[in-house]
Amino acid sequence: MAGRIVLFGATGYTGRLTAEALAARGQRAVLAGRNASRLAELAAELGGGREVAVADVAEPATVRALVGPGDVLVSTVGPFAKWGEPAIGAAIGAGAHYIDSTGEPAFIRRVFEHHGPAAARAQAGMLTAFGYDWVPGNLAGGLALRDAGDAAVRVDTGYFVTGSVGTRSISGGTRASLAGAVGTPSFAWRGGVLRTERGVARVRTFRFGDRDRPAVSVGSSEHFTLPRLHPGVLEVNSYLGWFGPLSRAVQAVSLAGSAVLRVPGVRALYGAAADRLVKGSTGGPDEGERARSGSHIVGMAYDGEGRQLSEVHLSGVDAYTFTGRILAWGAERAAAGGLNGTGALGPVDGFGLDALEAGCAEAGIARA
Ligand SMILES: NC(=O)c1ccc[n+]([C@@H]2O[C@H](COP(=O)([O-])OP(=O)(O)OC[C@H]3O[C@@H](n4cnc5c(N)ncnc54)[C@H](OP(=O)(O)O)[C@@H]3O)[C@@H](O)[C@H]2O)c1
Repeated sequence: MAGRIVLFGATGYTGRLTAEALAARGQRAVLAGRNASRLAELAAELGGGREVAVADVAEPATVRALVGPGDVLVSTVGPFAKWGEPAIGAAIGAGAHYIDSTGEPAFIRRVFEHHGPAAARAQAGMLTAFGYDWVPGNLAGGLALRDAGDAAVRVDTGYFVTGSVGTRSISGGTRASLAGAVGTPSFAWRGGVLRTERGVARVRTFRFGDRDRPAVSVGSSEHFTLPRLHPGVLEVNSYLGWFGPLSRAVQAVSLAGSAVLRVPGVRALYGAAADRLVKGSTGGPDEGERARSGSHIVGMAYDGEGRQLSEVHLSGVDAYTFTGRILAWGAERAAAGGLNGTGALGPVDGFGLDALEAGCAEAGIARA
C-alpha cells in the first residue's frame, strides 16, 4: 500500500503551491500546519474533503504525530536552520521518507553529514533541497557527467533567471532564509573531499544566448550528490547567476560582510535583525509575476587538463512554480515506493537520471 503524503507548511507560500501541484496530480495529501482555520480554508478551496492536521515546530511532539512508517513528510517550513529539525526528527523517528524545500547550504550539509546515517538506519529516504534549489543543477550536472564519460574530473553548474525580475520576484520565506544564511560558512567539493569555504568565494562566467553571464559560487546539494554518480569527480562547483553584472560587487560585499560578522557581538546583533524579518508567511510572486520570469540552468564537465568535455542547458518555468511541482512529483513517487535507497539521497541517485529528467520536464524545466 502506498504511504500517505503529509505536507507540513501547507498554508505558506511554497506550501500552497505544493498543495495545488499535489491536487493537480490527483494526490490527496494531508495538509499540515500551525493554524487550524487557515488549514480548513485551504482544504475547502482545494475541495474533496482533504484531511488536515495541526502541528507546530515549537512543540515537536505535534510534528512527530504527523507521520507513520512508509509515509512521506514534505516540509516547506523554513528558514530550515531555525525550524527544520522537528520535521527531520519526526521522519527518522517514524521511519517515514522526508522531502524538503530548503536551499540553505548549512542545513543541507547537516542533512548529508549528520541525519543521513540515522535515516538509513530507520529505512527512510531523505531528499533535502528538493526544489529549484537544487534539483535542476543536479540534473544538468548529472547529464553533463553522463555525456562526458570516464574522463570527467570536474563539474560546474550554474543557475540563471530569465525574463523580467522585479522586487516582488522572491518570497518572504526566501528573504528570511537568505538573511539567516549571510556570513555562515559555505563549502565546495575539492580534491575529492568536502571543504569548508566562504560563501561567494569565486566568480565565473557561463556563455549562453550570445552573452557571457557572471555567477557567484554557492554551497548546494550538488557537492554531496554528483561525486556519488561519478567516483572520479574531484571538483564540484555550483554558481548562482541571479546577480548578473553585480556578481563581483556581491563577492566584495560578502567578503566584507563575513569579516564584519567575525567582530565579537556583531553576529548576535545581525541574528536579532534577521529574526525581525521573519514574521510568518509574507507571500511571494503571484501567478502573473511568476509567468513573466523563467529559469536557465547549465551543467559543464571537464577533464583533468581543464578541457571542456560536455555542456548541458536546461530552461523553463520560474523557481517557485518549479519548486511546488517538483516537490509534488517527488512526493508522489516516494509514496509509491519509487525511491532508490535510504539515508540522505540526491535527486539523481534517489530517482535515477532518466526518471528525474522526465520529472523535471513535467515540472516545467527541460533540455533547452
Ligand atoms: N529550494 C527552493 O528553490 C525554494 C523555493 C521556495 C521556497 N524555499 C524555501 O522554503 C521555505 C518556505 O518559503 P516560503 O516562501 O513558502 O515561506 P513562508 O510563506 O513564510 O512559509 C513558511 C511556512 O512555515 C510555517 N511556519 C512558521 N513557523 C512555524 C511553526 N512554529 N510551526 C509550524 N509551521 C510554521 C508557516 O506557517 P504559517 O502559514 O502558519 O505562517 C509557513 O507555512 C523557506 O525556507 C524558503 O527559503 C526554497
